[in-house]
Amino acid sequence: MTNRDLETLVDTSDEWITERTGIKERRIAAPNEAASDLACEASQKALSAAGLKPKHIDLIIAATVTGDMPFPSTACTLQALLGAKNAAAFDLNAACSGFLYGLSVAECFIKAGSKKRILVVGSEVLSKFVDWEDRGTCVLFGDGAGAAVVEATEGESGIISTEMHSDGTLGGLLCIPGGGSRIPPSKDSVRDGSHFIKMKGNETFKIAVRTLERLVVDTLKKNKIKPSELALLIPHQANLRIIQAAAERLRLPMEKVLVNIDRYGNTSAASVPIALDEAVRSGRVREGDYILLEAFGGGLTWAAVLLKW
Ligand code: ACO
Repeated sequence: MTNRDLETLVDTSDEWITERTGIKERRIAAPNEAASDLACEASQKALSAAGLKPKHIDLIIAATVTGDMPFPSTACTLQALLGAKNAAAFDLNAACSGFLYGLSVAECFIKAGSKKRILVVGSEVLSKFVDWEDRGTCVLFGDGAGAAVVEATEGESGIISTEMHSDGTLGGLLCIPGGGSRIPPSKDSVRDGSHFIKMKGNETFKIAVRTLERLVVDTLKKNKIKPSELALLIPHQANLRIIQAAAERLRLPMEKVLVNIDRYGNTSAASVPIALDEAVRSGRVREGDYILLEAFGGGLTWAAVLLKW
């Protein structure tokens, strides 16, 4: 769906969307596709890249805020779709930071020795929770999924460090208020549109910029890595101006920053793994490279993962 398509739905323009967000188009799932369907395709690609079969996976972590249904979990549905019969499975809700929270949790299970091969997937069908009459949100989001298999390695490559943070006092800035036990689904909740994504965009924007600038600087400092040693920054794709602000703070040239928001919009938990996959498949990541993944989203939550490839 292009910005021009959106011009026919709400009072907006390609110029406004491009200038304020960097988005040109976004992908929309088919009416019969749910989060587990997208997750399944991404997971099959991740398994094939890792040279593994579904039976080798012993844990599935599905990061999503647009799961198939309240329960069973999208991770369990995905387990069935994949035929990953040896895996435990659960969902993880950290909005746009979900995939990075998932990597952090996977790292802990692997270090503890209780799981060997963990499938971490971020999958979202945000188009089904967007109010297509609200120009303040409907232009921002897209659907997608990305996945990775995490396992123990020998040598220096792998997850160097992880950061997870949250501030629940600011949860109201970005939420889907209805459909849960606070505002259960009813004719009224549907009439009021409480099952749609609500966002105080400008306030969220300012907090995201400040928080992410601090997060990327602190993560590198903690690990005694200079920004110039970083081969690639892979940020959550919410807004090009937020991405540029983090890059400027690190004095990183934009060639060292993965940007694909123009094609996908904000795909929440799917955004970082989609960007990581594109970086790997296009040869932008080489053995020994330091890569910093970072994200910020509803909760509020924010997270970073420093990798050595
Ligand atoms: N087309 C045209 N005009 C618009 C549109 C639109 N689609 N949307 C808003 N406007 C108007 C507003 O009505 C306002 O008009 P006014 O000045 O007459 O009142 C004007 O544009 C400016 O609106 P702002 O909201 O102040 O614009 P801003 O520069 O903040 O950009 C945006 C809005 C793109 C939403 C930005 O605030 C943003 O990216 N926020 C952060 C998003 C984010 O990081 N979310 C976290 C992750 S998402 C997750 O966790 C699921």
